[in-house]
Amino acid sequence: MSHSAILAVRVARKTTEALDISSFELVLEGGGALPAFSAGSHVDVHLDDGLTRQYSLCNDPKETHRYLICVLMDAASRGGSKAMHEKVQVGQTLKISAPKNHFPLAHEAQRSLLLAGGIGVTPILCMTERLAMTGASFEMHYCTRSRERTAFAGRIASAGFAKQVQFHFDDGADAQKFDMAKVLSTPQSGVHVYVCGPKGFMDAVLKTARDQGWPEAQLHYEFFASEVVASDSDGEFEIKLASSGRLIKILKDKTVTQALSEAGVEIQTSCEQGVCGTCLTRVLEGVPDHKDLYLSPEEQAANDQFTPCCSRAKTPVLVLDL
Ligand code: FES
Repeated sequence: MSHSAILAVRVARKTTEALDISSFELVLEGGGALPAFSAGSHVDVHLDDGLTRQYSLCNDPKETHRYLICVLMDAASRGGSKAMHEKVQVGQTLKISAPKNHFPLAHEAQRSLLLAGGIGVTPILCMTERLAMTGASFEMHYCTRSRERTAFAGRIASAGFAKQVQFHFDDGADAQKFDMAKVLSTPQSGVHVYVCGPKGFMDAVLKTARDQGWPEAQLHYEFFASEVVASDSDGEFEIKLASSGRLIKILKDKTVTQALSEAGVEIQTSCEQGVCGTCLTRVLEGVPDHKDLYLSPEEQAANDQFTPCCSRAKTPVLVLDL
């Protein structure tokens, strides 16, 4: 569990934004100003049954009277998006974290390329609006399965920057399809790429960008929480605490954070799915079996840090800087 402050908010409005997509307007229970946030921020929503889900804020960061989050009803939901869609109603109180930003705009960017896939539009739109407001140079591409699944199409169409946004529908004509290789064809210094969307979309964008030679420092991305895949090859191993030399056994069906917590060693976590980076811990010896979506391939390959909420070990012992 995250140790950050918990806010009690009330659902002031629930709106259908597109097929299977609803937005929720959250206001502080009892009224008042909410903590400030910047474009790209998300909040953790603590649902019943101990579920925590992260949702990007997609209203104007200048607003302090509300947070707007947007949720896709995911058929493969482990409960989070289903609970939000079916159970959470107007007037209900939710517990959320204060906003956190793992996906900030790079202020040194001379130009920005913003790429949204489906519900990934939530942080991307907020970032685009921010860039438009500051007069920055940018272009946004918004890929969805179909027009009816395209949230915020009206908000974008009526914006002053509408011409800088291109929509791409999977079921549309070939001419309007997103040409990733073309858009990312020439890495240029000062151009920063932001991508958010389903894993397949992000993997394709990031692979294309890396293949074309985009430097890692110019690629910014945020994965959505997804199911961490347990594999049959997950085995037992041991964690050694560098400070005391103590060895803790990690059984096959336990995560490192669970086993350490049972042994009295708490590591702060939030998403518990390898997405947020909250639990990132230094590895001094041994080779982690990375299962997170947070570290870049280069960072994973360095093997000097890992996410103990979901990652495991390839060697019998991992020595952690704890
Ligand atoms: S708690 Fe989010 S990456 Fe581990």
